[in-house]
Amino acid sequence: MKGIILAGGKGTRLYPMTRAVSKQLLPIYDKPLIYYPLSVLMLADIHEVLIISTPEDTPVYQRLLGTGEELGMRFAYKVQDKPRGLADAFILGEDFIGGDDVCLILGDNVFYGQQLTDTLRRARARKGCATIFGYPVKDAREFGVVEFDETGKVLSIEEKPAVPKTNYAVPGLYFYDNRVVEIAKNVKPSARGEIEITSVNNAYLEMGALHVELLGRGMAWLDTGSPEGMLKAAEYVEAVQSRQGFYISCIEEIAWRRKFITTAQLKALGERMKMTEYGQYLLSLAQEDQK
Ligand code: G1P
Repeated sequence: MKGIILAGGKGTRLYPMTRAVSKQLLPIYDKPLIYYPLSVLMLADIHEVLIISTPEDTPVYQRLLGTGEELGMRFAYKVQDKPRGLADAFILGEDFIGGDDVCLILGDNVFYGQQLTDTLRRARARKGCATIFGYPVKDAREFGVVEFDETGKVLSIEEKPAVPKTNYAVPGLYFYDNRVVEIAKNVKPSARGEIEITSVNNAYLEMGALHVELLGRGMAWLDTGSPEGMLKAAEYVEAVQSRQGFYISCIEEIAWRRKFITTAQLKALGERMKMTEYGQYLLSLAQEDQK
Protein backbone atom coordinates (compact mmCIF):
# COMPACT_ATOMS: atom_id res chain seq x y z
CA MET A 1 0.00 0.00 0.00
CA LYS A 2 1.17 3.52 -0.83
CA GLY A 3 0.57 6.67 1.21
CA ILE A 4 -0.14 10.24 0.15
CA ILE A 5 0.10 13.36 2.30
CA LEU A 6 -1.67 16.36 0.89
CA ALA A 7 0.17 19.42 2.19
CA GLY A 8 -0.92 22.05 -0.30
CA GLY A 9 -3.26 24.97 0.06
CA LYS A 10 -2.70 28.60 0.93
CA GLY A 11 -3.56 28.32 4.62
CA THR A 12 -5.50 31.58 4.41
CA ARG A 13 -7.38 30.81 7.63
CA LEU A 14 -4.06 31.14 9.48
CA TYR A 15 -2.82 34.39 7.92
CA PRO A 16 -0.43 36.05 8.67
CA MET A 17 1.27 32.92 10.11
CA THR A 18 1.10 31.17 6.75
CA ARG A 19 1.77 34.06 4.39
CA ALA A 20 5.33 32.91 3.78
CA VAL A 21 5.33 29.37 5.21
CA SER A 22 3.20 26.35 4.40
CA LYS A 23 0.80 25.53 7.23
CA GLN A 24 2.00 21.94 7.59
CA LEU A 25 5.54 23.18 8.34
CA LEU A 26 4.40 25.18 11.34
CA PRO A 27 5.12 23.59 14.71
CA ILE A 28 2.71 21.74 16.92
CA TYR A 29 4.70 22.07 20.14
CA ASP A 30 8.12 20.60 19.26
CA LYS A 31 7.85 19.25 15.72
CA PRO A 32 6.50 20.31 12.33
CA LEU A 33 2.80 19.63 11.82
CA ILE A 34 3.47 17.24 8.91
CA TYR A 35 5.26 14.81 11.28
CA TYR A 36 1.88 13.95 12.81
CA PRO A 37 0.16 12.66 9.64
CA LEU A 38 3.43 11.09 8.47
CA SER A 39 3.59 9.11 11.71
CA VAL A 40 0.07 7.79 11.07
CA LEU A 41 1.13 6.39 7.68
CA MET A 42 4.18 4.81 9.32
CA LEU A 43 2.00 3.21 11.98
CA ALA A 44 -0.09 1.79 9.13
CA ASP A 45 3.18 0.17 8.00
CA ILE A 46 3.35 2.22 4.82
CA HIS A 47 6.90 2.74 3.56
CA GLU A 48 6.33 4.72 0.36
CA VAL A 49 4.84 8.17 0.70
CA LEU A 50 4.07 10.89 -1.83
CA ILE A 51 4.03 14.44 -0.49
CA ILE A 52 1.99 16.88 -2.55
CA SER A 53 2.44 20.61 -2.05
CA THR A 54 2.61 23.97 -3.78
CA PRO A 55 5.37 25.00 -6.22
CA GLU A 56 6.95 27.24 -3.55
CA ASP A 57 6.68 24.82 -0.63
CA THR A 58 7.62 21.47 -2.22
CA PRO A 59 11.38 22.22 -2.09
CA VAL A 60 11.01 23.05 1.61
CA TYR A 61 9.38 19.69 2.32
CA GLN A 62 12.21 18.07 0.38
CA ARG A 63 14.69 19.86 2.60
CA LEU A 64 12.87 18.75 5.74
CA LEU A 65 12.19 15.13 4.84
CA GLY A 66 14.65 14.23 2.08
CA THR A 67 14.46 10.90 0.32
CA GLY A 68 13.16 9.11 3.40
CA GLU A 69 16.16 6.79 3.44
CA GLU A 70 17.21 7.94 6.91
CA LEU A 71 13.89 6.65 8.21
CA GLY A 72 13.91 3.47 6.16
CA MET A 73 11.18 5.07 4.03
CA ARG A 74 10.85 6.29 0.45
CA PHE A 75 9.49 9.77 -0.10
CA ALA A 76 8.39 11.16 -3.45
CA TYR A 77 7.22 14.70 -4.12
CA LYS A 78 4.68 16.19 -6.48
CA VAL A 79 3.81 19.80 -7.13
CA GLN A 80 0.16 20.86 -7.26
CA ASP A 81 0.11 24.12 -9.20
CA LYS A 82 -3.20 25.21 -7.67
CA PRO A 83 -5.61 23.68 -5.14
CA ARG A 84 -8.29 21.76 -7.03
CA GLY A 85 -9.74 19.69 -4.18
CA LEU A 86 -8.65 16.68 -2.19
CA ALA A 87 -9.53 14.15 -4.89
CA ASP A 88 -6.83 15.75 -7.08
CA ALA A 89 -4.31 13.83 -4.94
CA PHE A 90 -5.19 10.62 -6.80
CA ILE A 91 -4.90 12.25 -10.23
CA LEU A 92 -1.54 13.81 -9.38
CA GLY A 93 -0.51 10.58 -7.70
CA GLU A 94 -1.55 8.21 -10.49
CA ASP A 95 1.98 7.14 -11.50
CA PHE A 96 3.10 6.93 -7.90
CA ILE A 97 0.12 4.77 -6.90
CA GLY A 98 0.61 2.42 -9.88
CA GLY A 99 -1.38 -0.75 -9.25
CA ASP A 100 -1.46 -0.43 -5.45
CA ASP A 101 -4.05 0.43 -2.84
CA VAL A 102 -3.57 3.85 -1.28
CA CYS A 103 -4.07 5.72 1.97
CA LEU A 104 -4.58 9.49 1.85
CA ILE A 105 -4.02 11.68 4.88
CA LEU A 106 -4.36 15.44 5.03
CA GLY A 107 -1.16 17.18 6.10
CA ASP A 108 -2.85 19.02 8.96
CA ASN A 109 -4.65 16.10 10.64
CA VAL A 110 -3.36 15.04 14.06
CA PHE A 111 -4.44 11.69 15.51
CA TYR A 112 -3.40 10.13 18.78
CA GLY A 113 -4.70 7.23 20.81
CA GLN A 114 -4.05 3.76 22.07
CA GLN A 115 -6.19 1.95 19.51
CA LEU A 116 -4.81 3.84 16.54
CA THR A 117 -2.40 1.19 15.26
CA ASP A 118 -5.02 -1.60 15.44
CA THR A 119 -7.58 0.60 13.71
CA LEU A 120 -5.13 1.41 10.93
CA ARG A 121 -4.19 -2.24 10.48
CA ARG A 122 -7.85 -3.24 10.19
CA ALA A 123 -8.50 -0.54 7.60
CA ARG A 124 -5.44 -1.52 5.63
CA ALA A 125 -6.35 -5.20 5.61
CA ARG A 126 -9.81 -4.60 4.15
CA LYS A 127 -9.53 -5.20 0.41
CA GLY A 128 -11.62 -4.12 -2.57
CA CYS A 129 -13.32 -1.17 -0.87
CA ALA A 130 -12.87 2.21 0.78
CA THR A 131 -12.61 2.83 4.50
CA ILE A 132 -13.34 6.19 6.08
CA PHE A 133 -13.60 7.08 9.75
CA GLY A 134 -16.26 8.72 11.87
CA TYR A 135 -15.36 10.90 14.83
CA PRO A 136 -17.91 12.54 17.14
CA VAL A 137 -17.61 16.33 17.28
CA LYS A 138 -19.75 19.01 18.91
CA ASP A 139 -20.33 20.84 15.63
CA ALA A 140 -20.04 18.80 12.43
CA ARG A 141 -21.00 21.56 9.99
CA GLU A 142 -17.47 22.33 8.81
CA PHE A 143 -16.64 18.70 7.92
CA GLY A 144 -17.70 15.78 5.81
CA VAL A 145 -20.50 14.13 7.82
CA VAL A 146 -21.34 10.42 7.79
CA GLU A 147 -24.70 8.83 8.58
CA PHE A 148 -24.86 5.09 9.32
CA ASP A 149 -27.29 2.49 10.63
CA GLU A 150 -27.00 0.37 13.77
CA THR A 151 -24.94 -2.27 11.92
CA GLY A 152 -22.40 0.36 10.88
CA LYS A 153 -23.55 0.46 7.24
CA VAL A 154 -23.06 3.91 5.69
CA LEU A 155 -26.34 5.54 4.65
CA SER A 156 -25.07 8.92 3.48
CA ILE A 157 -22.07 11.18 3.46
CA GLU A 158 -22.36 14.93 2.98
CA GLU A 159 -19.77 17.70 2.66
CA LYS A 160 -20.21 20.57 5.12
CA PRO A 161 -24.00 20.25 5.49
CA ALA A 162 -25.86 23.23 6.99
CA VAL A 163 -27.90 20.74 9.02
CA PRO A 164 -25.75 17.67 9.77
CA LYS A 165 -27.65 14.36 9.98
CA THR A 166 -25.27 13.12 12.69
CA ASN A 167 -22.45 14.56 14.79
CA TYR A 168 -19.92 12.20 13.19
CA ALA A 169 -17.31 14.13 11.22
CA VAL A 170 -15.13 12.37 8.66
CA PRO A 171 -11.45 13.01 9.49
CA GLY A 172 -8.88 13.54 6.76
CA LEU A 173 -7.73 9.91 6.62
CA TYR A 174 -8.97 7.60 3.90
CA PHE A 175 -8.09 4.10 2.65
CA TYR A 176 -8.93 3.13 -0.95
CA ASP A 177 -8.43 0.31 -3.37
CA ASN A 178 -6.86 1.06 -6.74
CA ARG A 179 -10.17 2.07 -8.35
CA VAL A 180 -9.89 5.44 -6.62
CA VAL A 181 -7.69 6.81 -9.43
CA GLU A 182 -10.37 6.32 -12.10
CA ILE A 183 -13.12 7.45 -9.73
CA ALA A 184 -11.25 10.69 -8.94
CA LYS A 185 -10.81 11.43 -12.64
CA ASN A 186 -14.57 11.30 -13.11
CA VAL A 187 -15.54 13.52 -10.18
CA LYS A 188 -17.38 16.69 -11.17
CA PRO A 189 -16.37 19.91 -9.36
CA SER A 190 -18.68 20.99 -6.54
CA ALA A 191 -20.32 24.38 -6.04
CA ARG A 192 -17.06 25.67 -4.47
CA GLY A 193 -15.24 24.52 -7.63
CA GLU A 194 -13.35 21.62 -6.02
CA ILE A 195 -13.24 17.93 -6.74
CA GLU A 196 -14.37 16.78 -3.33
CA ILE A 197 -13.22 13.71 -1.46
CA THR A 198 -16.84 13.35 -0.41
CA SER A 199 -17.78 12.75 -4.08
CA VAL A 200 -15.18 9.97 -4.23
CA ASN A 201 -16.65 8.46 -1.07
CA ASN A 202 -20.16 8.75 -2.49
CA ALA A 203 -19.02 6.79 -5.56
CA TYR A 204 -17.84 3.98 -3.26
CA LEU A 205 -21.11 4.22 -1.33
CA GLU A 206 -23.08 3.75 -4.56
CA MET A 207 -20.98 0.69 -5.38
CA GLY A 208 -21.76 -0.71 -1.91
CA ALA A 209 -18.05 -0.56 -1.10
CA LEU A 210 -17.78 2.15 1.57
CA HIS A 211 -16.90 1.13 5.08
CA VAL A 212 -16.85 3.40 8.13
CA GLU A 213 -14.84 2.79 11.29
CA LEU A 214 -15.92 4.78 14.29
CA LEU A 215 -13.16 6.32 16.35
CA GLY A 216 -14.03 6.14 20.02
CA ARG A 217 -13.68 8.65 22.82
CA GLY A 218 -10.23 7.28 23.65
CA MET A 219 -8.90 8.71 20.41
CA ALA A 220 -7.82 12.29 19.89
CA TRP A 221 -8.37 13.91 16.49
CA LEU A 222 -7.15 17.43 17.01
CA ASP A 223 -8.13 20.52 15.10
CA THR A 224 -5.33 22.63 13.65
CA GLY A 225 -7.55 24.89 11.54
CA SER A 226 -7.20 28.05 13.67
CA PRO A 227 -4.57 29.67 15.89
CA GLU A 228 -6.58 28.54 18.92
CA GLY A 229 -6.77 24.95 17.59
CA MET A 230 -3.03 24.91 17.01
CA LEU A 231 -2.32 26.18 20.51
CA LYS A 232 -4.64 23.60 22.08
CA ALA A 233 -3.07 20.82 20.00
CA ALA A 234 0.40 21.95 21.12
CA GLU A 235 -0.73 21.98 24.75
CA TYR A 236 -2.16 18.49 24.38
CA VAL A 237 1.11 17.15 22.95
CA GLU A 238 3.17 18.89 25.62
CA ALA A 239 0.94 17.59 28.42
CA VAL A 240 1.15 13.94 27.27
CA GLN A 241 4.87 14.05 26.49
CA SER A 242 5.96 15.70 29.72
CA ARG A 243 3.71 13.47 31.84
CA GLN A 244 4.52 10.11 30.24
CA GLY A 245 7.94 10.75 28.83
CA PHE A 246 6.78 9.19 25.54
CA TYR A 247 6.77 11.38 22.47
CA ILE A 248 3.75 11.74 20.21
CA SER A 249 4.40 11.28 16.47
CA CYS A 250 8.16 11.01 16.78
CA ILE A 251 8.89 9.66 13.30
CA GLU A 252 12.42 8.54 14.16
CA GLU A 253 11.15 6.54 17.15
CA ILE A 254 8.42 4.88 15.07
CA ALA A 255 10.92 4.01 12.32
CA TRP A 256 13.14 2.40 14.94
CA ARG A 257 10.43 0.57 16.89
CA ARG A 258 9.03 -0.76 13.61
CA LYS A 259 12.53 -1.86 12.60
CA PHE A 260 12.64 0.35 9.51
CA ILE A 261 16.03 1.50 10.92
CA THR A 262 18.65 0.09 13.30
CA THR A 263 19.66 1.41 16.71
CA ALA A 264 22.87 2.78 15.19
CA GLN A 265 20.85 4.76 12.65
CA LEU A 266 18.57 6.09 15.40
CA LYS A 267 21.62 7.17 17.36
CA ALA A 268 23.00 9.04 14.36
CA LEU A 269 19.69 10.90 13.95
CA GLY A 270 19.75 11.79 17.66
CA GLU A 271 23.36 13.02 17.50
CA ARG A 272 22.37 15.51 14.81
CA MET A 273 19.80 17.10 17.12
CA LYS A 274 21.43 16.48 20.48
CA MET A 275 21.18 20.16 21.42
CA THR A 276 17.40 19.74 21.81
CA GLU A 277 15.24 17.62 24.09
CA TYR A 278 13.95 15.93 20.96
CA GLY A 279 17.44 14.81 19.99
CA GLN A 280 18.17 13.74 23.58
CA TYR A 281 15.00 11.65 23.51
CA LEU A 282 16.24 9.77 20.42
CA LEU A 283 19.62 9.21 22.06
CA SER A 284 17.98 7.91 25.24
CA LEU A 285 15.95 5.38 23.21
CA ALA A 286 19.09 4.21 21.42
CA GLN A 287 20.96 3.91 24.71
CA GLU A 288 18.13 2.01 26.38
CA ASP A 289 18.38 -0.59 23.64
CA GLN A 290 22.11 -1.02 24.09
CA LYS A 291 21.90 -1.74 27.81
C1 G1P B 1 -11.73 18.41 4.28
C2 G1P B 1 -12.80 17.47 3.72
C3 G1P B 1 -13.84 17.13 4.81
C4 G1P B 1 -13.13 16.58 6.03
C5 G1P B 1 -12.01 17.53 6.51
C6 G1P B 1 -11.19 16.86 7.60
O1 G1P B 1 -12.28 19.65 4.54
O2 G1P B 1 -13.42 18.08 2.59
O3 G1P B 1 -14.75 16.19 4.30
O4 G1P B 1 -14.08 16.34 7.06
O5 G1P B 1 -11.13 17.86 5.44
O6 G1P B 1 -10.10 17.65 8.03
P1 G1P B 1 -11.44 21.03 4.33
O7 G1P B 1 -10.42 21.03 5.43
O8 G1P B 1 -10.83 20.91 2.97
O9 G1P B 1 -12.44 22.12 4.46
